Amino acid sequence: MRSSSRGDVDPFIVMDVMEQARRLEQAGRSIIHMEVGQPGTPAPKAARAALARAMDDGALGYTVALGLPELRQGIAALYADWYGVELDPARVVITAGSSAAFVLAFTALFEAGEKVGVTEPGYPSYRQILKALSLDPYAIPTHAADRHVPELPDVDLAGLIVASPANPTGTMLSKDDLGALIAACQAKGTAFISDEIYHGVQYEGRAVSALELSDDVYVINSFSKYFSMTGWRLGWMVVPEGHVRRIERLAQNMFICAPHAAQIAALGALGARDETEAMLANYRENRRLMLDGLPKAGFDKIAPPDGAFYIYADVSDLRQDSRAFAAEILEQAGVAVTPGLDFDPVRGHTTLRFSYARSTDDIAEGIKRLTSFMAQRG
Ligand SMILES: Cc1ncc(COP(=O)(O)O)c(C=O)c1O
Repeated sequence: MRSSSRGDVDPFIVMDVMEQARRLEQAGRSIIHMEVGQPGTPAPKAARAALARAMDDGALGYTVALGLPELRQGIAALYADWYGVELDPARVVITAGSSAAFVLAFTALFEAGEKVGVTEPGYPSYRQILKALSLDPYAIPTHAADRHVPELPDVDLAGLIVASPANPTGTMLSKDDLGALIAACQAKGTAFISDEIYHGVQYEGRAVSALELSDDVYVINSFSKYFSMTGWRLGWMVVPEGHVRRIERLAQNMFICAPHAAQIAALGALGARDETEAMLANYRENRRLMLDGLPKAGFDKIAPPDGAFYIYADVSDLRQDSRAFAAEILEQAGVAVTPGLDFDPVRGHTTLRFSYARSTDDIAEGIKRLTSFMAQRG
């Protein structure tokens, strides 16, 4: 069968690490999971209860393409609550995770062949989705020394996508830095897309939404992280008023609608603030353990982790091959970590990402194992 070059995307390396970890577990090994960026907790109880009621009551058929009106209203209310922003629910689009929102946004905004800026290090799937849509990802390297704040390059970009808090670094953009970036994009006619999936998971101050600064942006978010609902595949996007119908037409044809069951659960999750804040307290404690334990173990060059649940460490003093180093740590220490190559194809051979989204007991055990692994390396 013939195949397209658009389909020649790179694998998501973290998924390969997960598979190696699973194989070791199947062979009876105990593995601590610091590779995957997902909470170890289930969806909030209120989310599961809302779905249980709905399953008894109705058929859970298609919803309208933009999503359940009450969920769109609930999300608009979240913007008032979190940021003091008044948002018209008509601008909220419910999607199958933020991943589907990227597909909608990139398709709605860019012509084939156009350049779209992505930060390096950054979330790998932006690059691969752009490539699969015949777009041209343009790498913008960022640096720990200036807190990974990206600078708009001297190149014509059709768009720029930025995450704050970021994956893999956890660094957050200040209101001034975010505002300057949006203004620079708008001055050059570059569409600004703000990936806000880690909002709510923050430790040093509050993450700023691009919607606090401009209405002429695309904002993407999800129930995966703060609401602990990765597998439910539910996210959302806020678009300028004039783009709603364009997105609706694309969503109707590409997805029909986001999963109805997950939309019901998400509505329940919006009212479960006690539970989500308790999860945040767990990440906060894990972060404290990591910031104390990792440098003592020998991983001491790390980006300032303001939010999300990741620590990105420069291991250039220890190894030049992060893939081999991660495999060695998995095999010898029983701790799964992600090689930086997933996030930065150029410099990622000397970095590792540690996720602390799991239970505090797991994190404490993981640090213990990493410490003795490093001590044995000498
Ligand atoms: C920065 C970032 N954006 C988007 C996603 C995808 O999330 P979703 O589960 O909403 O598709 C992830 C997942 O790890 C991520 O780290």
